[in-house]
Amino acid sequence: MNTFKQRKIREHYDTIADVYDHHYDKPRGRCYHSHISTYIMSVLPNEGVLLDIGCGTGLFVERYHKNGGNAVGLDISTKMIEVARTRCKSCDFTIGTGEKIPFGSNSFDGVSSLLVFSYVKSPEAMLSEAYRVLKPGGSIAICTLGKKLLTKGIPALYQISERINVNHVVMKDFGEHYYNKKEMEGLFTNAGFSDTVIKWCSFAHIDMIDPLFFLAKKIEPFVEERIPQLAYNICVSGKKPHR
Ligand SMILES: C[S@@+](CC[C@H](N)C(=O)[O-])C[C@H]1O[C@@H](n2cnc3c(N)ncnc32)[C@H](O)[C@@H]1O
Repeated sequence: MNTFKQRKIREHYDTIADVYDHHYDKPRGRCYHSHISTYIMSVLPNEGVLLDIGCGTGLFVERYHKNGGNAVGLDISTKMIEVARTRCKSCDFTIGTGEKIPFGSNSFDGVSSLLVFSYVKSPEAMLSEAYRVLKPGGSIAICTLGKKLLTKGIPALYQISERINVNHVVMKDFGEHYYNKKEMEGLFTNAGFSDTVIKWCSFAHIDMIDPLFFLAKKIEPFVEERIPQLAYNICVSGKKPHR
């Protein structure tokens, strides 16, 4: 599958690969990404081999590796993969798409994907491929922007940003789709996964201004637990059953 939108995503990430990490080098970005990756790590096995779909510059692959795991990163952007290879020299990175994973069946103990799923044109194809490459008993965990009160205006904001040429690493119109709990549960079940768990994650969003971000961070645990409709990301985990 090589649609116009997929090409646009690839070309965009090729262009911003050198500056992508600046976004996550600052305290706000580090804090936001680390919050998501800490949750994703907590629901994945730390033994065996993990495939990270849409690995970007390898932020999660590196963290997983430092934690004693063994991970392989996959991404459609050649330039993002080049940065990832520099970041984590002892990890493997491959160019390819989540909808057609260039690995054999039953190869991985875990599959992760952080901040990618909303770009994917065929979520069914990506989940079916993730299921195929996972070993029976293996786990999957995905985190992506959820369809929520606070994310409703984002596609319009990104369209405007693109028209007026805002220089921001993700503010482009890629026709992203944000998911709600019911859609994610349906997609995971139809792909064959069991033990699906949904967790709403992050109230402090990277694009907030500093004082607001750190205030939001303070009340984040309360929001995630008690007012999940205000959290930005939906994290979904599941298992490939033993047959
Ligand atoms: C917002 S970045 C997230 C990168 C990384 N997961 C992180 O947490 O920093 C989105 C990444 O997904 C990649 N991507 C988008 N669509 C993809 C697809 N269909 N298959 C593989 N990678 C994809 C992009 O090239 C980009 O590197």
